[in-house]
Amino acid sequence: MKGHFITFEGGEGAGKTSILQTIKQKLSGQGYKVIATREPGGIEISEKIREIIHDPLHTAMDARTEALLYAAARNQHLVEKVIPALEQGKIVICDRFIDSSLAYQGYARGLGMDEVFTLNQFAIRDYMPNLTLFFDIEPKKGLERIKVNKDRERNRLDLEEIHFHELVYEAYQILAEKYPHRIQTIDAAQSIEMVETDAMDRIISHLQGK
Ligand code: TYD
Repeated sequence: MKGHFITFEGGEGAGKTSILQTIKQKLSGQGYKVIATREPGGIEISEKIREIIHDPLHTAMDARTEALLYAAARNQHLVEKVIPALEQGKIVICDRFIDSSLAYQGYARGLGMDEVFTLNQFAIRDYMPNLTLFFDIEPKKGLERIKVNKDRERNRLDLEEIHFHELVYEAYQILAEKYPHRIQTIDAAQSIEMVETDAMDRIISHLQGK
């Protein structure tokens, strides 16, 4: 793989989506070729799958259906957008990837992280991220932050009970311990400027091979 595949992960209200845009601009400003994208979505077919998964009216959706749809959206996005950019040697920064499925569907929904990993292997083949930043914030604080932001889209998963978000948080901690070489934890409860600086420093170190 010629480029660098970097993913941002974390629970609701960790601030990763706005930080991702700032980091993209900073990296571009330093001359790096970079694209920013998101999951589920990033391209037309996957954005349509996103609408189906996230529709608050789809309360009947079974957890396995949910996991399969995220994996389907992931494959299409990889094939159409991520892999071509990596082949061109670009840096791809993606808001959420396989760890979200492991945490939300595998752990919080109770399907099992190993089972969900196996399901996703079909979709991602060998395309695991080179670096993953986990934006670490307690669910209570994260949810308070998104309550304040009234413009934010409310999806079916945002509407889950606090216990669900606590499980997601626990899962990310398990994943960070399991994959210490790939996943780096960032304290996302700091001021946004400090979180940005921290994230940027780690990405630059990674790109410079430190
Ligand atoms: P989004 O509106 O993009 O918000 P944010 O990333 O800021 O939370 O919501 C994406 C939602 O989809 C989020 O609730 C997590 C969920 N999700 C999964 O449950 N599994 C997955 O594999 C992915 C990619 C996302």
